[in-house]
Amino acid sequence: MRIGADYYPEHWEKSRWKTDFKLMNKANIEVVRIGEFAWSLYEPKEGEFHFEWMDEALEELAKYNIKVVLCTPSATPPKWMVDKYPEILQEDVHGYVKGFGTRKHYCFNSSVYREKCHILNRKIAERYGKHPAVEGWQVDNELGWANTTRCYCDECQVNFRKWLENKYGTIDNLNKKYGTVVWSQIYNSFDEINIPKAGACYDVCPDTQGQNPGLLLDYYRFSSDSVVDFTRETCKDIRAYSKYPITTNMLDAAVNSGTGIDYFKLSEELDFTSWDNYIEFQWGIAEDAAVSRDHALLRSYKKRPFWVMEQQAGACGWSKMGPAPTPGKLRLWTYSAVANGADTVVYFRWRSALFGLEEYWNGIIGHDGKPGRRYQEIAGIGQEMKELNKIYGKLLPKSRVAIIKSFDAEWSHSIHRHVENFQYDNYELEFYRAFYKMGIPVDFVQPSEKLDNYDLVIAPALIMVKDFELNNLASYVRRGGHLIISLRSGIKDEYDAMLPESIPGVFADMAGVTVPDFDPLLSKKTEISGVFGKGTADLWCDIIKPVSAEVLGVYTSDYYAGEACLTVNDYGDGKVYYLGCDLDETAMLNLAKYTGSRAGIPMELYETEGLERVECSDGTNYAQFLLNHNSYPVIVPLKTRYMEMISGKVVENSIKIEPYGVAILGLGKR
Ligand code: GAL
Ligand code: ZN
Repeated sequence: MRIGADYYPEHWEKSRWKTDFKLMNKANIEVVRIGEFAWSLYEPKEGEFHFEWMDEALEELAKYNIKVVLCTPSATPPKWMVDKYPEILQEDVHGYVKGFGTRKHYCFNSSVYREKCHILNRKIAERYGKHPAVEGWQVDNELGWANTTRCYCDECQVNFRKWLENKYGTIDNLNKKYGTVVWSQIYNSFDEINIPKAGACYDVCPDTQGQNPGLLLDYYRFSSDSVVDFTRETCKDIRAYSKYPITTNMLDAAVNSGTGIDYFKLSEELDFTSWDNYIEFQWGIAEDAAVSRDHALLRSYKKRPFWVMEQQAGACGWSKMGPAPTPGKLRLWTYSAVANGADTVVYFRWRSALFGLEEYWNGIIGHDGKPGRRYQEIAGIGQEMKELNKIYGKLLPKSRVAIIKSFDAEWSHSIHRHVENFQYDNYELEFYRAFYKMGIPVDFVQPSEKLDNYDLVIAPALIMVKDFELNNLASYVRRGGHLIISLRSGIKDEYDAMLPESIPGVFADMAGVTVPDFDPLLSKKTEISGVFGKGTADLWCDIIKPVSAEVLGVYTSDYYAGEACLTVNDYGDGKVYYLGCDLDETAMLNLAKYTGSRAGIPMELYETEGLERVECSDGTNYAQFLLNHNSYPVIVPLKTRYMEMISGKVVENSIKIEPYGVAILGLGKR
């Protein structure tokens, strides 16, 4: 584990560099990420390249033994390029062309832009690909940030038509799969197909929601593929000259609710994953369970340790700021990342900027360049990690529970969300949160992944699966796995069309139930009772008729009082639960305990409000992180004697954790 800083050598006088690097050394900051927005310095005019400034920065960083993640600068195409080649600009859903002035104003499919990136990226990779100060690469910056994955320009339209032709072969086939017979949408050729923009009725159905769902879903897939392809090309350019590992900084699900990029697919192009973690800032305050969920997603995309490439270091925002991190929180957030599988945490940013849009984005040190309390806190973390590294290698939580994350399902639900308050990410978080509160780590998996390492797999609202994915889930259960299937699962084909089978469609056999009726809840609550105690549903109620399944919960109000809401079915050597409704937080927690313990997972662990507990291992050594997200101290009872690894003290019976405090319980000596 180690720490780093996001740094902009180009924002400061060269005479200041030394002071900064010495301060970094003193704080045990071992790595900086640089160069992601520097195109106009590298290539101030078309074909005129300058690298001296970067040469000097790297040389100086090397003297201080600070390692570098170097970026490809494609997030900010310069003004001369935009003026000369306006066709590189993104177009939005209403046909508005995104102009120069901020960032991410380019189209991933623009052949001109791809060529310009290709030229510069290869030059950068060639020059620095073996540089001793460099240790890794970042592609672009926050791909898909601010709704930029989906572009609606002419070049995208041409590419989309090719993509469709490749997928469907004949236009008749596409017409059939999309059901274009509805509303006179039958196409005569692929050339007639437009990217689905805001439809004629967009004031009734916001943006594109009046469009054909099959067409929309394919367009979302195409857009994600375009970003992945752009990344693949960039990686190819880098790998032609460099063996250093490549990443790109992904966005959280908590604040950004998805970029429209299939991160599993994107991760296949990368050597390691990383993401940007802002917890309390202008755009909101993230719940600790949601941050933990985001970390879990990041370790899951490659099932490997990841980096936090940007982590909040001070009060921040653009026009206005969120709160200053209370003393202890920078450290708490850092260890929470480590506990969840991060091996490097890089703080954004080293020093608060004196100019530009992000003047209010406070760094480790302030505008005045003097080390203050945030610097001291981070230096303390650096010191602790130096000691901890003598004991620990790369830590990962050992997850016995997995939640299926399907980008097809996410996008399908975003096109038609079934009922006003349904949001796939939030719905998945409801399951995640329950296990999080019990200190049970959860991974995210694709429906096609090997599942044998998990005792319990949850498939929330898995609306569509391909045959091989269904077979994978079925054989996991037949071999003894436990699977929870929930509302809105298995009812559509991959073209976003409804299946003619009774609900739950392709899962009916495994679940041993049928659902002849359902009640989408707009503004009422339905009461429920079962192995999860007494509770309420306020989103959706499937009225379940067991075929071979046993009833574990029933509705106790409304016209379906007495009908089943939760069942379990024996299937092969395993079990399939079908949960027909959403559950309030307490009921969900009880369901987690019930299903977890039946899958053989000890669920009677700590349950201290606001305490994050993660058990990890580096393969040899054990670490149990206790992270207090409360503003008050907590006393955590202990069953065994441990060594607290940061202080080196033996703890027994109980341990007190200060507000925002951290403890790492180990078994060995220190
Ligand atoms: C991230 C971005 C950084 C910086 C930071 C603060 O989204 O990658 O470049 O802008 O937020 O806004
Ligand atoms: Zn485009």
